[in-house]
Amino acid sequence: MSDNDILVKNSGWVPLKQFDDGRDGMLCILEAQRDIPFEIKRIYYITNLQNARSLRGKHAHKTLWQAIFCISGSFLLGLDDGITRQEIQVWRNDQGVLLGPGLWHTMTGFSGGCVLMVVASDYYDESEYIRNYDEFVKFVRTS
Ligand code: TYD
Repeated sequence: MSDNDILVKNSGWVPLKQFDDGRDGMLCILEAQRDIPFEIKRIYYITNLQNARSLRGKHAHKTLWQAIFCISGSFLLGLDDGITRQEIQVWRNDQGVLLGPGLWHTMTGFSGGCVLMVVASDYYDESEYIRNYDEFVKFVRTS
């Protein structure tokens, strides 16, 4: 097992097709239901992070599937399925991480100029979030 194995439930690496054109840059391609294991209904991205002080996430979803990509820079992704916890350094722009239901996630340790992109299986719905950790633990124990 390598340090990079994702052990929590409803997660895993999402490799993308990539063309490295040297000094002409790098092209990464993401196709719904091919590279991403769900239909994409929403895309959002996060910029202007204040690096070490920034904290995002701190929630889980009841039914939503997402995949998170680090387009530029790096960050630390904390994953917790209620039993297993792990932290993953995300820095490759051709490899995202799947964030399925019942997975508490936090994003910290952003490098300068870090840009994140998230693709989601559904539209935004606040009632689908679990923002309280104790509620999350109850949710994963009963589902
Ligand atoms: P949140 O999902 O908590 O952000 P993160 O997981 O990156 O820390 O969302 C932050 C705020 O933005 C929250 O008030 C809801 C709003 N929001 C939308 O209105 N639509 C969206 O698609 C998303 C992702 C968030």
